Amino acid sequence: MANENHRFRWINFNPIAASIDDGRDVIQGLNQSQKTLPCRYLYDDRGSELFEQITDLPEYYPTRTEQAILEQYALEIAELTGVCELVELGSGSSRKTHVLLEAYSQFSDRLHYCPIDISAGILKTTALELLNRYPNLKLCGLAGTYEQALAQLPPPELENRMLIFLGSTLGNLNDKECNKFLTQIQQALQPGEFFLLGVDLQKPIQTIEAAYNDAQGITAEFNLNILRHLNHRFDGDFDIDLFEHFAFYNQEQHQIEMHLRSLVTQTVFLKALNYRFIINAGETIHTEISRKFDLSKLVDNLASHAFKPLQIRTDPQDWFGLILCQCQCAGDDCP
Ligand code: TRP
Repeated sequence: MANENHRFRWINFNPIAASIDDGRDVIQGLNQSQKTLPCRYLYDDRGSELFEQITDLPEYYPTRTEQAILEQYALEIAELTGVCELVELGSGSSRKTHVLLEAYSQFSDRLHYCPIDISAGILKTTALELLNRYPNLKLCGLAGTYEQALAQLPPPELENRMLIFLGSTLGNLNDKECNKFLTQIQQALQPGEFFLLGVDLQKPIQTIEAAYNDAQGITAEFNLNILRHLNHRFDGDFDIDLFEHFAFYNQEQHQIEMHLRSLVTQTVFLKALNYRFIINAGETIHTEISRKFDLSKLVDNLASHAFKPLQIRTDPQDWFGLILCQCQCAGDDCP
């Protein structure tokens, strides 16, 4: 489905998502001995809104820290890449994108932005706001999963392109998924095109754990919303009040692990999937990981995917890293 006018184009991959998204992944996850749920169910429209609230929390340092790094280096980035179309994965509210659009608008009056997000709601709101703010902006919104969008990126309308992946969302992928994802990025880009990546770094455990256990309980609400989403999507009867948010830092794996713990032994039924399961008191459903990176190891990994680092920046405390790299190969030339 595509909608076109002069400055705004809209591609919605969700019909495809709906047909592959038959809940098999939910059943498969809940059948494991450590129950898990695919983290993408965290981000329905309400989940995306709650996540926006998380980014403003005093304990949640990543967003603010990354924003400060971007503000400091956006002009430098724009200078290094020259005129280029910005394609952002998981754009959310695109608050950080403002900083980049401002920087690019100082060098050229041709601005092109393609936000990609699973939540069509937030994508539309953001698009309207950006179009109002930047009269020269052309925008192509892509509603769908990263995989769908990366595999079917529309051809660039400017001479170069930069894929942007901020917020340490890379950390929500395990090692294997991360490598697969980097390969997809590499395949979506032409040689000479850019990749801007923001990642959360290793630091004292108290700081990290506080960021995922905020005092106001917004993170808890966000995590619990996955159950609400499943109730809605699959006609389920999860009783949200009988679960609690549980997040801790795994020091060996360098990652936050997010769970929902059942307060009682209970049966849950997902009617649309005709699937029933029992969860014991104290047993958890794993919902998300958030890895904290070692910058030099990550840069090595990027190099092994043919991404040449051009600029690596951190905040003064080295809490968060922003890496600008350039794709060096295409198709069969790739490692
Ligand atoms: N990309 C975010 C992060 O890793 C996602 C996130 C933040 C998250 N807080 C959360 C995911 C709480 C689940 C629960 O920091």
